Amino acid sequence: MKPRITEPLVTPPLVTPPLVTEPLLAQRWSPRGFDESHVLTFGDLLPLLEAARWAPSSGNTQPARWLVTLRGEPAHARLVDCLSGGNQPWAPRASALLVAVATQAGDDGRPYPWHLHDTGQAVAHLTVQAAAQGLLVHQMGGFDADRIRHEFGLSDVQRPSVVVAVGVLGGPPLPPELASREARVRTRRPLSELVLPSAPDDLPGPRLAP
Ligand SMILES: Cc1cc2nc3c(=O)[nH]c(=O)nc-3n(C[C@H](O)[C@H](O)[C@H](O)COP(=O)(O)O)c2cc1C
Repeated sequence: MKPRITEPLVTPPLVTPPLVTEPLLAQRWSPRGFDESHVLTFGDLLPLLEAARWAPSSGNTQPARWLVTLRGEPAHARLVDCLSGGNQPWAPRASALLVAVATQAGDDGRPYPWHLHDTGQAVAHLTVQAAAQGLLVHQMGGFDADRIRHEFGLSDVQRPSVVVAVGVLGGPPLPPELASREARVRTRRPLSELVLPSAPDDLPGPRLAP
């Protein structure tokens, strides 16, 4: 495995989040300018899938499943066809496209109420492991879920949750509109807006600087 990254992965939209001390989290971002000549093997992706496998889940139900496609494979082309028009111009450049599939119920039909939460958390763990291997990840909700279900023979309880592009930055240059989006400074709502009042007379985010 490649060494742990300690330098910034890339420069364009690099924002250093205050207080975040873990570089892999601080430097994570979602690129579109993937290197269309970079190759990943299924073996390269195993540590990512293992990281996802060991994510916590409600009652250890482990609802996340994975479709794994590598650029150049027929399955990859079939998955690209399922992406929205906004994602098709850039996502096929990534070395791999995965689908995180959330299992909505167990074999006995018992619903998994946390299937989306647990699958999202598995994706988050996969993303951090990817960063540790020098890889970048861009998640996508823009896809035709029914088409993925049909194309890949998913069952009624298997819900495509998110498509995950994995790769490294590189050429060719993005079209101008995508390049300018790529260069945008990343922003977030202030913490004072995100921490809710915990008592009726509390102000939002009372313990946070404005
Ligand atoms: C569930 C989910 C769905 C997303 N869908 C898309 C998408 O369809 N197309 C896209 O370009 N980016 C998509 N994104 C990426 C977000 O736009 C991106 O994470 C957000 O703007 C924050 O940017 P950052 O990841 O660089 O911090 C999605 C992200 C998530 C988590």
